[in-house]
Formats: sequence, structure tokens, C-alpha cells
Amino acid sequence: MSGKIVAVGNLKGGTGKSTVAVNVACALASGGRAKVVLVDADGQGTATDWGAKGRLGVSVRSHPFEEAGGAGSAAWNAAVDELKAGHDFVVVDLPPQLGDATLNALVGANLFVVPVTASGADLKATAKAIDLLRRARALRDDRRPACLLVPSRVDRRTAAGKEIEAVLHDFGEPVAPAIGQRTVHVDAFTAGEWVGAYAPRSVAHDEIEVLAAIVRRVK
Ligand SMILES: Nc1ncnc2c1ncn2[C@@H]1O[C@H](COP(=O)(O)OP(=O)(O)OP(=O)(O)O)[C@@H](O)[C@H]1O
Ligand SMILES: [Mg+2]
Repeated sequence: MSGKIVAVGNLKGGTGKSTVAVNVACALASGGRAKVVLVDADGQGTATDWGAKGRLGVSVRSHPFEEAGGAGSAAWNAAVDELKAGHDFVVVDLPPQLGDATLNALVGANLFVVPVTASGADLKATAKAIDLLRRARALRDDRRPACLLVPSRVDRRTAAGKEIEAVLHDFGEPVAPAIGQRTVHVDAFTAGEWVGAYAPRSVAHDEIEVLAAIVRRVK
């Protein structure tokens, strides 16, 4: 088995990276559809904390970049490669950092999922994330990783929330259907569950399933 690496990141804090990483990982795994492991590469440990109650249905491995250190990229890659061998998907929750460790993670990934909120500051950080993506592609010869921009925490009552898809299309990468700003996402984290277990009949769950269906098709 050689699993697909789905790296979830952006260079801005609080865009919903961990929320998307955890929920997409769980959706991919739900109903026994795939063998999935979630790698928490962020020293803040959000995904690790989320999984600590043992209610996620996927295992969370803590492999923070910080610990990997200077020579650590090779060690980090080795750990992820080992997980790839035993799973259909390795979903990586990246820290909000620019740098060699993130570049290194992208070079090995099949797909870079980038949650973006509708704020101006976020769009600037997203431009930098896409620069990093293109640097990763330049180090390969197959136009990988693919990219998926995900409008995140979207509030359609705001002007920026109404326009986010149009703005994201200008980056020249595929844009996924939006993930709305919904309180069940906050409550599911508190419960240590993904939204499909916490609120299976919610719009929030439907939105995650739509996103997971796109991620599932990654080559
Ligand atoms: N779609 C959403 N609806 C409502 N709340 C959300 C949504 N996505 C994320 N949040 C909330 O916003 C906060 C930040 O989300 P999250 O931790 O997923 O972001 P992050 O990008 O991983 O942050 P960091 O940069 O700190 O790692 C959390 O309190 C989370 O519950
Ligand atoms: Mg996070």
C-alpha cells in the first residue's frame, strides 16, 4: 500500500487548518472506507488534543517540525513514509509557518489543501503559501502536489464572505466548495469528535463530506 499524503496548511493562524484536517481525515475513514492516519506537525498540538479523548475514529500521530530540528526533515519524512506504507491517506495538519520544513513536507505531498478565510490578511498569507507550493513543484517534475483552496469559516452575511470564491479563483488553483462558519465545529472539538459523529445531520457535516469527496479523488 502506498498512501496519498494530504497536507493541510496556510501561513496564517486560525484559518481552520486543524478543523479541516481533522474532519476530512475522519470523513475519509468513516464507514471503513479507507485507512487513514492524521499527523499533527504543529507544536501547538491542536489535532493531538482533539484526538486525546479517543473518539475520532482515526489515530493521531504527533510529529512536530520543531522537534525534527535542523537535520530533522529526513527523520520527519521517514516517519511519514512509514505511515504511507500502511494507510490509504496520511493527512498532515501543518503549522502556520513558512520555511524549509513546510517546503519539505509539500515536496512529498500529493495534495496541498489550503483553508482561507475571507480577510485581507489571510489572502496575503495565502499568496505566500502558493509561492511555497510552486517552489515545491519546481523541485519535482510531475506538477505535484495538486492544490485545493478551501474557503473556510465563511459567513455569507459579510461582503467578503460573498466574494471569497471569486477572489480565490484569481490564484489560478482549484477552489473547493466553502466550509461555513458554524458553531457545531467549535462544539465538536470540545467533545473530541468530528462533525460527522457529533452532528451527523448538520450542514457542517454535509460540507465536510463534499470536501472529502474531492480529496478522495486525489492522484
Ligand atoms: N468552519 C468553522 N466554523 C466555526 N468555527 C471554526 C470553523 N473552523 C475553525 N473554527 C474555529 O476557529 C478556531 C481556529 O480553528 P483551527 O484551530 O481549525 O484553525 P488553525 O488554522 O488550525 O489555527 P492555528 O493556526 O492556530 O493552527 C477554533 O476555535 C475553531 O473551532
Ligand atoms: Mg491548527
